[in-house]
Amino acid sequence: MKVLIVGSGGREHAIAWAVSKSAKADKIYCAPGNAGIEEYAECVNIGAMEFDKLVAFAKEKEIDLTIIGMDDPLVGGVVDAFEAEGLRVFGPRKNAAIIEGSKAFSKDLMKKYNIPTAEYENFDSDEAALAYLETAKFPIVLKADGLALGKGVLICNTLEEAKDGVKTIMEDKKFGDAGNRMVIEEFMTGREVSVLAFCDGKTIKCMTSAQDHKRAKDGDQGLNTGGMGTFSPSPFYTDEVKEFCEKYIYQPTMDAMKAEGRDFTGILFVGLMLTDDGPKVLEYNARFGDPEAQVVLPRMENDIIDVIDACIDGRLSEIELSFEDNAAVCVVLASDGYPEHYEKGKLIKGLENFEGKDKEGYYAFHAGTKKTDEGIVTNGGRVIGITAKGANLKEARANAYRATEWVDFENKYMRHDIGKAIDEA
Ligand code: AMP
Ligand code: GLY
Repeated sequence: MKVLIVGSGGREHAIAWAVSKSAKADKIYCAPGNAGIEEYAECVNIGAMEFDKLVAFAKEKEIDLTIIGMDDPLVGGVVDAFEAEGLRVFGPRKNAAIIEGSKAFSKDLMKKYNIPTAEYENFDSDEAALAYLETAKFPIVLKADGLALGKGVLICNTLEEAKDGVKTIMEDKKFGDAGNRMVIEEFMTGREVSVLAFCDGKTIKCMTSAQDHKRAKDGDQGLNTGGMGTFSPSPFYTDEVKEFCEKYIYQPTMDAMKAEGRDFTGILFVGLMLTDDGPKVLEYNARFGDPEAQVVLPRMENDIIDVIDACIDGRLSEIELSFEDNAAVCVVLASDGYPEHYEKGKLIKGLENFEGKDKEGYYAFHAGTKKTDEGIVTNGGRVIGITAKGANLKEARANAYRATEWVDFENKYMRHDIGKAIDEA
């Protein structure tokens, strides 16, 4: 079959790699893709938000299955656009992707269906938000309602900081229209775990767990980023935690969406915080995590197309998900200065060291890269995710850091403590 993948990051590279392993995929396209994805897929120069062009391309090439990797097109209704033309597509419709597209929606959903999450209030005006803060407890968390590249969350330690935060989100519109509404939420403490799940509208099947490192610098210092590295599985996601989440979070979320007439088909990403009061939902996303996908998919034993087909056809209950009994660590190589100002266009050396290495459990998943006449150059903040597997987390971490030395570019930057938390487990 012919498969089209929509997106251009490390997540889409990991998806393209998994699809390339499927016995069912004869030809893979990716829009717009990147220099690494070209190894398995024909990249086409269509943007992820150009729905008409994507649909026209899928019709022209007689694509059998389109997989949407990114949040923006999902929230914007790309799945509805494909379905309207009778095209087979994997991802939630617009009315279900709102679970990521509006934090106010997802908080109200959790409240209505008793799904554990932090206490909160939603606000449509800055006056009301400011008035609420006067009697609030600190630290407190401010969240822009809409999509903000993972950056629309402000943790404020004092009333002054929080007032500035409301101004940043609602008046200065730092996150654009995402800040037309906001959520003010109780601050929670605990370990974070990311759980990704396949969903068919009624059944939800979770993949192995992972943990992201969102801050730019070692020791969880610096600004929030899209994610600087991941490990899988999380040793903090015990059987007990898993059982609690299955009972009170995963299936209840599926049932809640169904009850609201918003059947969720696609990948549900549940961001959890393991608090002293038990696991609570930090956020939902409507797609694979990036860079969570880069440690979860290499460990998956199923043929990804089989699972996706089962989701689209409502047969997920028939599928048994299975993961290797090992571990994986992904260290993101970024451009120095990310997530703020950084230079692009630096030649990347050593990529050939990863050729054929996936069989040994080493991967270079491209995020911001571009092919030029001189070779492959950096083209973004997050450049490449170096993933390695190992018998256990310690071994995977040592392997991943060793492999980070196989590639080089001028302003290469990485965290040196990805997976360090494992030592405390
Ligand atoms: P989100 O995009 O909602 O996952 O938030 C981004 C990051 O902000 C999370 O990964 C947490 O590290 C942090 N965060 C979000 N909500 C809270 C909260 N209620 N309490 C503490 N930290 C939070
Ligand atoms: N790594 C977090 C995310 O994909 O949103």
